[in-house]
Amino acid sequence: MKIAMVGSGYVGLVSGACFADFGHDVVCIDKDETKIERLRAGMMPIFEPGLGELVAQNVRGGRLSFSTDLPSAIEDAQAIFIAVGTPSRRGDGHADLSYVYAVAQEVAESLKNPAVIVTKSTVPVGTGDEVERIIRESGTSTKFAVVSNPEFLREGAAITDFKRPDRIVIGAEDEWARTVMTEVYRPLFLNRAPILFTSRRSSELIKYAANAFLATKITFINEMADLCEKVGADVQDVSRGIGLDNRIGSKFLHAGPSYGGSCFPKDTLALLKTAEDFNSPVRIVEAVVKTNDTRKRAMGRKVIEALAEAGAGEPRGKKIALLGLTFKPNTDDMRDAPSIAIVQALLDAGADVVAYDPEGMELAAPMMPEVTMARNAYEAVTGADAIVLVTEWDAFRGIDLQRIRQLAAQPVLVDLRNVYNPDEVRSAGFHYTSIGRP
Ligand code: UGA
Repeated sequence: MKIAMVGSGYVGLVSGACFADFGHDVVCIDKDETKIERLRAGMMPIFEPGLGELVAQNVRGGRLSFSTDLPSAIEDAQAIFIAVGTPSRRGDGHADLSYVYAVAQEVAESLKNPAVIVTKSTVPVGTGDEVERIIRESGTSTKFAVVSNPEFLREGAAITDFKRPDRIVIGAEDEWARTVMTEVYRPLFLNRAPILFTSRRSSELIKYAANAFLATKITFINEMADLCEKVGADVQDVSRGIGLDNRIGSKFLHAGPSYGGSCFPKDTLALLKTAEDFNSPVRIVEAVVKTNDTRKRAMGRKVIEALAEAGAGEPRGKKIALLGLTFKPNTDDMRDAPSIAIVQALLDAGADVVAYDPEGMELAAPMMPEVTMARNAYEAVTGADAIVLVTEWDAFRGIDLQRIRQLAAQPVLVDLRNVYNPDEVRSAGFHYTSIGRP
C-alpha cells in the first residue's frame, strides 16, 4: 500500500518509518528542504532511540523515501496522513490549525486519485469537518474521505508504542475509509492490537481526553505528594497502594516536579478552549493546568528550602548543580520542561546554576544562557552547594553517591523524581530531600 506522510516531525517521521517497516511504501514529505536533505543523508532531526536505524533499514529496503514535492508524492497514495504541528496559538492557547489547513488545501489542489486523508496531528473536535470542507470546496471531483487517527506515542518510547499500541483509534464516517484504514493497520491487527472505530468527532476528542486524564493523574499524585510531606506519609506507598486497584492502575502515578513536554501542556490548554467554545467547562482540567504551572516554580523554592534545612545557607552566590534538564529522559526535548522554571527561580534567588543533561544541553543552552553546561554529571556537581536531580535519566540512577558527596561542597541532595533510596543517600552523608517522602 502506498502511504504519504505530510510533515516529517516527530509523529510523521516515527509513523512513516514504522508503516514502512510493516511493508508499506511510504514517502515522508516536508516543506523544510534542509530537513529532507538531512533525512536523505540519514541524519535524524530529533533524538529518539532506535529511529535512525529504523529509517536507515527501510530506506535501504526501498520502502521509505523523503520528498519536498507534495503533489507528486501524494499522486498514487491511497492514504495521505497529515502529521504537521498544532502548537498553542500565541495569546489564547487554542491549537493553531493553520499548518493542518494549509496541507488540506495543498492536498485538495493536487488530488488525482482516490485517497483517504488521515489527520494524525492532534486537532480539536470539528477539525476533520473543516478539512473535509476545504477539500470539497476546492472543487475536486476525485473520491476522498477524511479520517481522524490520533497517535498515542510517548517520546523516548515512540517506536515500541507505535508497534505495540494499547489501541488504535480510527474516526471515520464511511465504510470505504474504514476499509482503507484497516489495510493500513493490518500488520497490527495480526498482532491483535485492539482497534476502535468511532465517529470522527469522538476520535478527535479521545486524544485530548486521554492526555488530559493522564495529566490529571500526574497532578493528583503530585498533590498527594505535597500532602504526604505535611502529614508524614510516603507518596511511593500511597501510589502503590492505590495503583494496585485495577480501576485506578499503577501507571502515571509517579510524583515529580510537574508534567512538561510538547503534548500535555499544549493539549490540556486546547481542551480548555474547546470546552469554553462549547460552553461546557472541564473544571478538573482547569485545576490541573493551574496546579501544574505553579508547581514548577515551587520546585525551585523546594531547593532553596532544602539548602536552609541542611544549614547550607541562603541561595545567593551558591552553586546549584542540576542533573537533567529535558522534560523526561530519553529525549532531547526541552519544551515546557520543569527545569526552565526551576532554573529561573534559582537564578532569581541569586544562585549560580550549573547543569548536565545527556541529550538536552544543545537545545537547553540558548533557553538558559546564564547556566553553565558541564561535560558530565561529576563535573557538574564539583563544588556544588546543592545537587538537584531534575530528570530521571538512567545514567543518574546509578551515580556513585560517595563520589558525588566528596566532589560537592555541601551535602545537599534534592531528588525531584524519587529515584534514590533514602537510606543509601543518607549513609553517603547527604541531607536528602525528595518528593512526598518523610
Ligand atoms: C504523552 C502521552 O503519554 C502519549 O500517549 C501521547 O501520545 C503524547 O503525549 C502526545 O500527545 O503526543 P510524552 O509527552 O512523550 O507523551 O511524555 P510522557 O511520557 O507522557 O510524559 C509527560 C510528562 O509527564 C513528563 O514531564 C513526565 O516526566 C511526566 N510524568 C509522567 C510524571 O511526572 N509522572 C508520571 O507518572 C508520568
